[in-house]
Amino acid sequence: MTEAQKHFAVIGHPINHSLSPKIHTYFAKEAGLAISYEAILSPLDKFNETLHTLMQKHYGGINVTLPFKKEAYLFSQHHSKEAKIAEAVNTLVFKSGEVTGHNTDGLGLVGDLTFNLKVTLHQKKILLMGAGGAAEGVIYSLLENKPLQLTLTNRTIEKSMAIKHKMDEYAEKFHVDLNVIEIKKLAHHYYDVIINATSASLHESELHIDDKVFHTGSFAYDMMYGKETYFIKKAKSQHAKTSDGLGMLVEQAAEAFYIWHGIKPDTKSVIDLLSAS
Ligand code: ATR
Repeated sequence: MTEAQKHFAVIGHPINHSLSPKIHTYFAKEAGLAISYEAILSPLDKFNETLHTLMQKHYGGINVTLPFKKEAYLFSQHHSKEAKIAEAVNTLVFKSGEVTGHNTDGLGLVGDLTFNLKVTLHQKKILLMGAGGAAEGVIYSLLENKPLQLTLTNRTIEKSMAIKHKMDEYAEKFHVDLNVIEIKKLAHHYYDVIINATSASLHESELHIDDKVFHTGSFAYDMMYGKETYFIKKAKSQHAKTSDGLGMLVEQAAEAFYIWHGIKPDTKSVIDLLSAS
């Protein structure tokens, strides 16, 4: 391993809550790699300067979290397919002065749902709530799993419409019925998997969703983690199965680890460890 491949970090604002240093340090220990991984708080208006400094210090790669994923996309000279489609980047690779941007959020979500939680997406009806960066980052990966239907909904419905237009060509490619519905009409329909990609849980504000959207047979997934959200509480009140997004966090980190080091880490032990604490 060269000096350039030893130093890694996650950048965000805020950043002190980040579990990424713990996760990557654990992965590295298991893989027998001597790397450093730290959390860096970047001033909101100095993201590019922060990255330039780290490049000069020969960092091998950077994870990017809120609110810099769009800026990381613009900073990258090359993009993975997922990053290009989402126009957002959560993993940067620095190599020979060049910057490549990846987005591992979608693979992280799908990995957690299908491998860890054993939730089938293929030929199922999926509802995705939210139309911000978090939602946009996962849509391609959801479509790739060929659900029967992917329904987008959001408080501001125009944003869902804009995403649908952008994603129509991929929905066609994977033969998925991609549609948009207003939140207040959701209760008239059945969804197998309901994913909350809004930031309502983050702000602890109520998500105005009818309890009847959830059923005994449905699986409700909140991309947030760390506390029982309104979304999860509502789903449980209707006896739906539920999960928070801790597994997604670990899986997206594992994908980033693979991009940087070429090693697929075991995620189960880290998820168990973090869940216990
Ligand atoms: P992120 O990058 O985390 O997705 P964002 O781009 O600010 O953050 O998007 C936040 C999403 O959460 C949006 O879809 C937002 O809805 P609007 O587009 O109508 O703003 C949604 N959201 C945030 N708080 C919400 C609430 N209390 N109820 C419903 N949706 C909410």
